[in-house]
Amino acid sequence: MKTLLVCVSTILLMITSACEKQEQQTFTPIPVDYKSWHQPLKKSLDYQIPGHGDSRRIVFLNEQARNARKIKDNKNKEMVDFPDGSIIIKEVYKREGSGYQVTPQLVVMVKNRKNEDALDGWLYYVRNAGSPQVRLINTRFCVGCHEAANEVHPYFDNNLEGMFRDYVFLNVAK
Ligand code: HEC
Repeated sequence: MKTLLVCVSTILLMITSACEKQEQQTFTPIPVDYKSWHQPLKKSLDYQIPGHGDSRRIVFLNEQARNARKIKDNKNKEMVDFPDGSIIIKEVYKREGSGYQVTPQLVVMVKNRKNEDALDGWLYYVRNAGSPQVRLINTRFCVGCHEAANEVHPYFDNNLEGMFRDYVFLNVAK
C-alpha cells in the first residue's frame, strides 16, 4: 500500500511539473494583439541609433507598462518604477534601399523581477523579421546599453536630472 501511495504521488508530481513547464512555454512576450496597445509616441522614430541601427521604430506599451510611476527611493530621490508584468514592444523596420522592410523585427522588454533570467528586473527578447522564434537574450548585450537610460542621455527628454529610469529611455512614468 505504501509503495502504491508513493507511486501515485510521484506520478502526480510528474504531472504537475509537466503542467508547470507547459505554462512557462505558453507565456508569450509578444501577444498577437500587441498592435492594439497604446503607442506613447505620435510619430515613428527614424533617426539612426546605436543598437537598433538605421530603422523606423514604433513602440507599444501594455496596460501594466502604462502604469509606470515615479516613486521615492530610500534616499527620498525620485525614481521610475515599472510594475511586474509590464511589456514594452518595439517594432524595428530595417532600412532597405530608399525605404524600409515591410516586416519588422520585434525587440521586447518584459518586467519580471522574480524570473531567474531577469537582468536588473527585465527580460529582453528578440524576434527577427519573418521568424516565428522568440529568443531570450540572456547576455548583457541589451541591458548593457539600456543602463544608459538611467543617466543623462541624448534621447527624448534627455533625462537631464539623471534619474533612475528603470532602463527605459522613453519617459512614460507618471
Ligand atoms: C547600443 C545601445 C542599445 C542596445 C544594445 C539595445 N538598445 Fe534598445 N534602445 C536603445 C535606445 C537609444 C532606445 C531609445 C531610442 C529609440 O528607440 O529611438 C532604445 C529603445 C528600446 C525599447 C523601447 C523602450 C525604451 O527604452 O525607450 C525597447 C523595447 C528596446 N530598446 C529593446 C531592446 C532589446 C530587446 C535589446 C537587445 C536585443 C536592445 N534594446 C538593445 C539603445 C539600445
